[in-house]
Amino acid sequence: MNILTFRSNEELNEAGAGIIAGLVQTNPKAVLGLATGGTPVGIYEELVKTHRKGMVSFKSVTTFNLDEYVGIPEDHPESYHNYMKHHLFAHVDLSPERTHIPNGNAPDLEQECAKYNQHLEDAKQIDLQLLGLGHNGHIGFNEPDHALVSGTHIVKLKDETREANARFFDSIDEVPTHALTMGVGTILKAKMILLVVRGADKAEIVHKALTGPITTECPASLLQTHPHVVVLLDSASGRLLN
Ligand code: F6R
Repeated sequence: MNILTFRSNEELNEAGAGIIAGLVQTNPKAVLGLATGGTPVGIYEELVKTHRKGMVSFKSVTTFNLDEYVGIPEDHPESYHNYMKHHLFAHVDLSPERTHIPNGNAPDLEQECAKYNQHLEDAKQIDLQLLGLGHNGHIGFNEPDHALVSGTHIVKLKDETREANARFFDSIDEVPTHALTMGVGTILKAKMILLVVRGADKAEIVHKALTGPITTECPASLLQTHPHVVVLLDSASGRLLN
């Protein structure tokens, strides 16, 4: 595991975008696993800048998002469909038919998960999976549990996850109770994982996930078993390491 700590958010964003753009420059048909939430916003901003400078094209890239809420419309300001459009898809030359996000409004959610798994299988392997980290150790929306699910599935969000995400909604009552998420099996199958974490409030979970026991009660701890993980931290989230 290669852990890099940055003094500023700008440096972290540049490093993250640099890793992703570098991969796409060497492999224009790369398959990228994408995350949402507050953490990757600055990285997407840098990627858009890099694209605008003509340094990277996404026209042959395929993307798979980690997750989507169940039951809010795609055009809801806080849907992950809308997030991706706003922060990345509308600003780069990705081909819409090669971008994938689970449909949290599908009439049959089980079938939607099976369909998403099939698309992932058809793509063979994610080359780089971008991840944020939940305060409780979740990756994607794989919440701590006595057992984890390998493929895409429906998940009931933990109260702490809904509370953390309430900052994006008018009130906690509006935060969806369920989501569709890629499973940990799919995440761990990625060739490379880029885990990004920011903020003093995540220092403890960073320490636990990266140095504590490997346990399904902290899904991110499973990343310790992966052969190629790069972790980008700001100094606040990395302060308990070493
Ligand atoms: C988002 C996702 C989540 C977030 C995590 C951290 O697609 O899968 O695991 O990465 O909840 O969220 P932020 O970045 O908002 O702190």
